[in-house]
Amino acid sequence: MVVWSSFLEIGVASIDIEHKHIIDFANLIEQTSELQQARLYDDKMLNNLFIIFRVHFQKEEYLMSRLKYPAIAQHSAEHETMLTRFKICMSDYKAVQNISPLMELITEWADIHITKHDMSLAAFIQQNKLVKQKKA
Ligand SMILES: [Fe+2]
Ligand SMILES: [Fe+2]
Repeated sequence: MVVWSSFLEIGVASIDIEHKHIIDFANLIEQTSELQQARLYDDKMLNNLFIIFRVHFQKEEYLMSRLKYPAIAQHSAEHETMLTRFKICMSDYKAVQNISPLMELITEWADIHITKHDMSLAAFIQQNKLVKQKKA
């Protein structure tokens, strides 16, 4: 289980909402993967999570491009690497029904990508004040 906390909030409401949604969805998949009768739905749920993950990255990349964010190349490359790793986790799950590698990836995304790359993007957004910010 990946635990959401205020430590993961970057202060841009539209992005924070998606981060929390992704974490909630991943936790739900982990829970259902433990139920034998839910196994039939796991592939579809994983595919949906992948799409949500990818669309979230695309939105950040569009935002970075619109704001001419200086670190766009590095941040986008991190997204690409994570999507590739996500696909490997999906294949592994289909082969051996082990959800742990995917949950480790989501944990790493939350603990490292959000707190480093997304937090830097949020600081840049707040400097530019171009996106509606989360109220304190
Ligand atoms: Fe993000
Ligand atoms: Fe990101």
